[in-house]
Amino acid sequence: MVKICCIGAGYVGGPTMAVIAVKCPSIEVAVVDISISRIQAWNSDHLPIYEPGLDEVVKQRRGKNLFFSTDIERHVAEADIVFVSVNTPTKTRGLGAGKAADLTYWESAARMIRQDCRREILSNPEFLAEGTAILDLFNPDRVLIGGRETSDGRKAVETLKSVYAHWVPEDKILCTNLWSAELSKLAANAFLAQRISSVNAMSALCEATGADVAQVAHAIGTDSRIGPKFLKASVGFGGSCFQKDILNLVYICECNGLAEVAGYWKQVIKVNDYQKSRFVNRVVSSMFNTVAGKKVAILGFAFKKDTGDTRETAAIDVCKGLIGDKAHLRIYDPQVSEEQIQRDLALNKFEWDHPAHLQPPAAGADKQVSVVGDAYEAAKGAHAVCVLTEWGEFKGLDYGRIYEGMQKPAFVFDGRNVVDVEKLREIGFIVYSIGKPM
Ligand code: NAD
Ligand code: UGA
Repeated sequence: MVKICCIGAGYVGGPTMAVIAVKCPSIEVAVVDISISRIQAWNSDHLPIYEPGLDEVVKQRRGKNLFFSTDIERHVAEADIVFVSVNTPTKTRGLGAGKAADLTYWESAARMIRQDCRREILSNPEFLAEGTAILDLFNPDRVLIGGRETSDGRKAVETLKSVYAHWVPEDKILCTNLWSAELSKLAANAFLAQRISSVNAMSALCEATGADVAQVAHAIGTDSRIGPKFLKASVGFGGSCFQKDILNLVYICECNGLAEVAGYWKQVIKVNDYQKSRFVNRVVSSMFNTVAGKKVAILGFAFKKDTGDTRETAAIDVCKGLIGDKAHLRIYDPQVSEEQIQRDLALNKFEWDHPAHLQPPAAGADKQVSVVGDAYEAAKGAHAVCVLTEWGEFKGLDYGRIYEGMQKPAFVFDGRNVVDVEKLREIGFIVYSIGKPM
């Protein structure tokens, strides 16, 4: 039996290995991690991450050919193929701080791989998106494998290819050299993020001119060369990878003396930051230039729907902006715990992946923020509602009931274009929706 060991039981390692176990019953898969609590959760009924379809896949194979363990050394030593899927956050200190990838975790994983065991290194970047991870893994647009252009390198590529070939058509398994695979990952995320910053930049112009960004996005998306996907204006993109991968790309460009190329990609992040601060400014300026002491309901904290992940979520910057203006926030998200929200709002930028740097909550921030169990409770007595994640349930809320319970004038600031603007205005709300006519 072929044995696979994956170091890192996170958002990528867990789902990817569970899918390999389902699709390749002849392969034994062990997912290992230094975090005892994470491994305990993978072995329990409450998996450490929320991802549609993941529970079923794990339940199907766990204990058969899928194992979660903290015995890293043993599983690495026994494995024919070792995947490394550990966190690679942005460095917060030292050389390249704020841009370069922090390879501390990667290096520690590499050191756990037995020194006496000479292995061929491949690059196998993952392209799954959170919230659709299982679907993406079952039916990937492509699998990318980069390897050295030597006979050992080519042999290793073929071995990994044979794993994916259990369910991925051969023409979708792309093989390249190592740098092409590594850069393709950064480039794919940079291109995707660039589309969002492009449509978000248009959203500001739409508001200024009276155009509707959804209509503009639809009109340009029907051009088959542009395509309709990834053109939804929003309060800003979040997630663990877009920003960090672009920053890493910028760093690599700068290290290679390509200042103009670096500057080009940096702008994608600048526009994203601008979109978040533009939203905060809109809230404050609409509410008579002050939110001090006012109650603001925040609907949604995760960086997108169908995940409990809050890494780099736009909600953090928006909430911090409103707290800075002394607002009192009542936050509701169907998948994010109070503990997580308070921790996120207490951390400095880039620190989400560095628990060692965890700091106490900023003075007063905890008192200004409460986390509640549903949207109605969040909006009760509030002066404004801000929608920051596009959870399906926010579309179907009884906005008449919400209006009744709010202070007047009652404001809705929709950062995800989920509410029916006309209907809400009929109810009596003052509505701001990203990129829509006022
Ligand atoms: P994660 O933080 O969810 O999981 C990483 C895990 O690695 C953690 O559980 C951590 O405890 C563990 N770990 C760290 N060092 C270890 C070591 N030495 N030995 C054993 N375990 C160790 O991270 P993630 O979101 O799964 O991302 C993993 C990699 O995949 C990153 O490089 C990321 O850029 C990339 N990626 C992420 C996504 C995504 O959607 N999250 C998608 C594609 C690619
Ligand atoms: C993204 C990529 O889509 C994956 O291919 C990649 O593997 C992954 O990053 C990674 O490397 O981590 P993910 O961040 O999970 O996946 O989710 P996306 O669906 O890409 O959304 C990212 C952010 O962009 C979210 O905040 C989302 O709300 C926002 N977004 C997305 C928009 O604002 N508008 C859109 O049209 C699409």
